[in-house]
Amino acid sequence: MDSSDIIIQAKQLVRKYGDRRILAGIDIKVHRGERVALMGPSGAGKSTLLNCIGGIDQPDEGQVFLGGVELSSLGTDQLAKIRREQISHIFQFFHLLPTLTVTENIEFPMLLNEVPERERKKRVSLLLKEVGLESRRDALPDELSGGEMQRVAVARALGVEPCVILADEPTGNLDSRTGQLVLELIKETTESRNIALILVTHSETATRICHRIVHIEDGRLKS
Ligand SMILES: Nc1ncnc2c1ncn2[C@@H]1O[C@H](COP(=O)(O)OP(=O)(O)OP(=O)(O)O)[C@@H](O)[C@H]1O
Ligand SMILES: [Mg+2]
Repeated sequence: MDSSDIIIQAKQLVRKYGDRRILAGIDIKVHRGERVALMGPSGAGKSTLLNCIGGIDQPDEGQVFLGGVELSSLGTDQLAKIRREQISHIFQFFHLLPTLTVTENIEFPMLLNEVPERERKKRVSLLLKEVGLESRRDALPDELSGGEMQRVAVARALGVEPCVILADEPTGNLDSRTGQLVLELIKETTESRNIALILVTHSETATRICHRIVHIEDGRLKS
């Protein structure tokens, strides 16, 4: 793989809270289509790193590049646009909108990205099939099981056709069998679309869907 295949690069990222350096100079590169597991003890800085890479949080020092573009060089609107179009998130507690149906939840980020209606409907219907939720398309989130909710979140993440998915303990709230099925779904759907994945997990089993594991401790990566 050559350097033009790098989709995410962080250089010397530092994030402080008060005097504490939560991220103490992180360097990481992720290639297109690469799946990286991020592991480390509670409080090590995993979510903070993911949030800095995804533009949810801003580092105090260092740089994040997405497809070669440095995020801090962008204005607010440009940053919001690039985040909406190129990065999707999957969270431990699903973060579905409770008053929207399965279909509407999947469609929502596409609406924000102004994907035309016909294209939205086409993508939603393919995604419902792909995640096995066609029969639940009109259900509300609180009518779904945890595994079903996370499958909706996976479909929602894929709908905008991102280059990168950042998943913060996506199976942390699921039993191990359901969690494994969701992970297989994430693996298959990101692989077929060449989407890069950073997967925060505490589970050795979950890392099996990834190409490599990166360990973080006290805000530093260990090789
Ligand atoms: N807004 C904040 N203000 C102060 N400290 C914070 C804030 N957010 C996170 N921290 C601290 O930063 C450290 C790293 O937090 P982070 O959430 O990145 O850990 P984590 O590796 O994701 O842990 P876990 O596995 O428990 O999710 C923790 O000690 C946490 O208390
Ligand atoms: Mg965390």
